[in-house]
Amino acid sequence: MSTSSRFARYLSPHLGSVVLAVICALVISLCEAGYAHIFGYTVDALTQIVAQDFDDGPVHVQYFHFERVLDGITITITDASDTFKLIGWILASILTLVVVKGGFTYCNDYLMARVGYQLVTGIRNELYERILFAPLGVLKANRTGDLMARVTDDVRTLQYAVGSTANTIRAAVCIPVFVLVMLSQSVKMTALALLVFPLLGHLINRFGRRIRSTSSEIQQQTGDISSQLKETLFGLKIIKSFTAEEVERTRFFKTNQGQYHAAMRRVRLTAMLPPLVEFISAIGVATVFGFGCWQVTQGRLEIGGFIWYIGLASLMFKPIKTIGLFNNILQQSLASAARIFYVLDFEKEAYKHKSRLKLGSVRGEVEFRDVSFGYEREPVVKHINFHAQPGEVIALVGRSGGGKTTLLNLLSRFYEVDSGEILIDGIPTPEIALEDLRRQIAIVPQDTVLFDATVMENIIYGAPASTQEAAIEAAKRANAHDFITQMPNGYQTQIGESGTKLSTGQQQRLSIARAILKGPPILVLDEATSALDSQSEVLVQASLENLMKGRTTFVIAHRLSTVVHADKILVLNDGQIVESGTHQELLKNGGLYQKLCQMQFRG
Ligand SMILES: Nc1ncnc2c1ncn2[C@@H]1O[C@H](COP(=O)(O)OP(=O)(O)OP(=O)(O)O)[C@@H](O)[C@H]1O
Ligand SMILES: [Mg+2]
Repeated sequence: MSTSSRFARYLSPHLGSVVLAVICALVISLCEAGYAHIFGYTVDALTQIVAQDFDDGPVHVQYFHFERVLDGITITITDASDTFKLIGWILASILTLVVVKGGFTYCNDYLMARVGYQLVTGIRNELYERILFAPLGVLKANRTGDLMARVTDDVRTLQYAVGSTANTIRAAVCIPVFVLVMLSQSVKMTALALLVFPLLGHLINRFGRRIRSTSSEIQQQTGDISSQLKETLFGLKIIKSFTAEEVERTRFFKTNQGQYHAAMRRVRLTAMLPPLVEFISAIGVATVFGFGCWQVTQGRLEIGGFIWYIGLASLMFKPIKTIGLFNNILQQSLASAARIFYVLDFEKEAYKHKSRLKLGSVRGEVEFRDVSFGYEREPVVKHINFHAQPGEVIALVGRSGGGKTTLLNLLSRFYEVDSGEILIDGIPTPEIALEDLRRQIAIVPQDTVLFDATVMENIIYGAPASTQEAAIEAAKRANAHDFITQMPNGYQTQIGESGTKLSTGQQQRLSIARAILKGPPILVLDEATSALDSQSEVLVQASLENLMKGRTTFVIAHRLSTVVHADKILVLNDGQIVESGTHQELLKNGGLYQKLCQMQFRG
């Protein structure tokens, strides 16, 4: 489906409002035609009044009279003083038209602005949902900053377009109304006026296309800017420590400058259209004007009718400019819409398999059967086989990049295996509902992830139904209670974005408390590589041991102390298990494990 028809489909639930807005626009354009009519026919009436001395009887002034359609209003003037009657009538009718037009313009603007905001709120919610439920692999393939730009900037462009349709609907309704009224006056003159229409259409369409392609470029650059900004904000400390400000500044200025040039190209196009439209419209009006003058001199047209007609013709060309400008905005927003639809087309991870089986709580038996997986084409994890009994501690060791984190990502189905299967309590994981599967597993990741909320909210994140007492108990077991109570607001302290107001050790203990409270039968610990001071390390280690009690634990171990007590150690190298056994067994083997141990002791 093309972007524009898809965009139109999003408008369809708002059809009621759009129809009302069109009706408003119809009334507005009739009011405008009414002005032109009153002005034109008043000129006629005045010429009649000036020419007559009322000896031949009264003067009848007819307004809004259309043969066989509308009788209109006739004002009879019998002497000069009656002219006030006419003036009064003119004032009253113009005032009525102004009030009616104002009221309907308000409704028209209000309705379309509401449609714009409703549409945008809906789309933004949908985008957020898509991102939230998309598989990690899909998200990782996109830059965070660019995704952010799509949700904020592109959506705003869309809203701007829908918001400015109010004017355009008025314009689009005005044109046929004016053309119809003009036709009722003079078919020939109207045909002359319409001669320039194809040229105008072609011009508007051509500019629109070029604006759309430039807009795609601009939006893409907005994504680049947003992406770099995100990286800068997250990496500020590193940028400063490497004194790389100059490099970053140059990079940013270059991207920004690139956007400036593209934006200026669009400005030139946008600014060129209105004068061109006006020029061609003027040709149309001038032709009609010339022809009309000739008609008047030939006595085929009244002066008043002529004035009304010219008024209508100028009024008709004005909305074309509006439509041209709107087309520019529309094309910009279609470029954004394409970027939005790209995100809306993200698949939803839970739909990938028919995961219907509901689980209570599992015992925690985990088996990998010939599991292979690669992020791209190259396999990162190859033919993995192992079996973990409930309550066992399985340590994964090996060189960096060996595939340890990847292997455990597969357990939670953050990524789908390419071949083989993973079973929990003998049930293949794809058969378990995704929420249920993840409820069985708590993760303490390599880099702690906390949210900008209170300590309490962070702890109960994975188990929202638990009580505050249970959360405090979990914090105690994670050796976090003491430092929490020392903070000014205790458990109600806001910990800042990503927990930046806490030390690394404190962040880790909080993340452990969160896992303890969730209390699932399976635990995944991706040991942090960042060095903690020895006191923190002891505290973190002790809290981890508390957490591991009675759970099947997978621990990616960087510290030897963690490995020594594991029930089974899997040594991963280049995505394969090259050795497995207990610490003692592996030491005796004299393989890679022994080498890794020696390296650690020396380090
Ligand atoms: N999102 C990703 N997309 C593509 N390749 C990836 C991705 N994540 C990891 N890899 C690649 O997969 C391989 C294994 O990475 P993994 O993170 O599993 O290693 P690891 O054993 O956990 O290493 P470390 O001990 O350093 O944490 C690496 O070669 C890495 O380049
Ligand atoms: Mg890792």
